[in-house]
Amino acid sequence: MKPIEIQQSRYGTAASRWAGVGPYYAMFPTSFATAAVKEYTKRGDCVFDPFAGRATSLFAASSEGRVGLGIEINPVGWVYGKAKLQTARYKEVEERICWLGKKARNYQVSAKELPQFFHYCYCPKVQEFLLAARSLLDWRRSKTDWTTMALLMIDLHGKRESALSNQMRQTKALSPQYAINWWKTRDLDPPERDPVAFMLKKIEWRYAKGCLDSGFGHIYLGDCQPILTRWKDRFLENKVKLLLTSPPYYGVTNYFYDQWLRLWLLGGAENPRSAVDSCKRKFENKQYYIRMLRQVFINSKPLLKRNAVIHVRTDARQFTRETTIEALESAFPGKKLKSEKHSMPDFTQTVLFDSKLVAKGEIDFVMW
Ligand SMILES: C[S@@+](CC[C@H](N)C(=O)[O-])C[C@H]1O[C@@H](n2cnc3c(N)ncnc32)[C@H](O)[C@@H]1O
Repeated sequence: MKPIEIQQSRYGTAASRWAGVGPYYAMFPTSFATAAVKEYTKRGDCVFDPFAGRATSLFAASSEGRVGLGIEINPVGWVYGKAKLQTARYKEVEERICWLGKKARNYQVSAKELPQFFHYCYCPKVQEFLLAARSLLDWRRSKTDWTTMALLMIDLHGKRESALSNQMRQTKALSPQYAINWWKTRDLDPPERDPVAFMLKKIEWRYAKGCLDSGFGHIYLGDCQPILTRWKDRFLENKVKLLLTSPPYYGVTNYFYDQWLRLWLLGGAENPRSAVDSCKRKFENKQYYIRMLRQVFINSKPLLKRNAVIHVRTDARQFTRETTIEALESAFPGKKLKSEKHSMPDFTQTVLFDSKLVAKGEIDFVMW
């Protein structure tokens, strides 16, 4: 097949276009999540992911007629997940973007007052548009607004030719001073963009094959540890057929620090901050990591059917691997465990983010 045909078939359905929302670290390849959902569940079954990220597992479940249910602590992953699982209609998003374009004029003064980084990163029109979106979109409550926000976040930073920003990685925001120096030495100015025209073009492509608002998926925003404790005696008991997840890897990334610019757009600080909260940091405390994994699996147990399957994909390096085995075996002593290591670059979740990690690969654990 020629490359153009591959592209066409890859994005030939609504599911394939929405599965890619949006750039996030350590995401499941959709093909992997869909294969697991098909192998271990049937239509109507419930799939649960306590570390849902951008909701790949829930989206795969939902698009295959299963019920996807998950929890994510990082608002960036959560907004992507909401937009994929409960998508606003094209017209609504289109109108919202045009409306933001009009409101953006009111943000000329605030745009001038933004820290230096923003002036090197975005042209003035984009700064004003982003400020309007930041203060006017009710992304926690409104379907139109979480969909609009998710679609805006995708190209908030990335390659200079195709994003709203000056040159940057799409998956990870650079720290402000580093970025400014990097742009200055290369003489790179922010690209001149009309943000409304830019966004309308992007949504036209995204919606060209339709969207899936099946209503079969739900993602909660918050820390799965207290949420699972609250759920223990509730309506979900014995409902889940497949626990499909990928927990944070020990010591690899800080999901909050690396997503600081998207978090700013969601109302966060103008600078990257290291979170005080341990589950928003890099998971470098071994004792905390061991306790956290164990508790999450133990507290997920009441939700699972007796014959439920647990499928966990994680970092293959020793500490994460051994801690995961230990946590799974202590939470599910009656189940059998098999593992499968793979290090093919196409299959690793970290490949998009950090090429140094590719060689280490990831490992799957399946319990049944
Ligand atoms: C390896 S990623 C999962 C990526 C996901 N499989 C996907 O396809 O997008 C791990 C996720 O766990 C989230 N996380 C870490 N601690 C959490 C907690 N206590 N509660 C809920 N989510 C948490 C992180 O924010 C991150 O998004």
